[in-house]
Amino acid sequence: MSKGTELRSLLETVGVVIGSLVGAILLITFATTKHDAADSSAMIVENKPSSENIQPVAAVKVADKSTSNTKSAVSGEKISQANCAMCHASGLMGAPKIGDVGQWGPRIAQGKDTLITHAIKGIRQMPAKGGNASLTDEEVAAAVTYMANASGGSL
Ligand code: HEC
Repeated sequence: MSKGTELRSLLETVGVVIGSLVGAILLITFATTKHDAADSSAMIVENKPSSENIQPVAAVKVADKSTSNTKSAVSGEKISQANCAMCHASGLMGAPKIGDVGQWGPRIAQGKDTLITHAIKGIRQMPAKGGNASLTDEEVAAAVTYMANASGGSL
């Protein structure tokens, strides 16, 4: 009987060892599976851009065209907001306020070309091109037209 008991305890020991091994393998498998899941989601992330890349190529071309269209059209309002509003919105340094018909009336009466020339070359406190030398004459003219027309003019 004692041999039988030894055998049982041996079998139990072997069983425990096998059980721990299986447990360890399961743990490793779980850990590995998690990594796999992360890897596969990374693969999905990688796959998405590659499929999206096909669309942006076309979309970027469209955006480029619309950007160049906007540039050639020259938005006087945008140029004015970016370069002129800092003085002409508040009347800083005595700048005629955009929208103030009374202040703009006599200036508009000088004529469109004179106004634009003054804006490009500067006049008294008004810096040439509003201080942004990188603006083209066309862009300054568009901003002048916008400002004057927003202030009772019809240039
Ligand atoms: C640093 C402030 C400042 C900025 C920036 C500025 N202006 Fe002026 N602007 C003035 C002042 C001050 C006057 C009034 C000058 C005067 O008549 O003594 C003026 C006057 C003008 C006039 C009237 C000129 C005239 O003959 O009566 C026009 C047009 C004008 N600005 C256009 C622009 C445009 C377009 C921009 C942007 C590209 C711009 N300004 C940016 C200060 C500024």
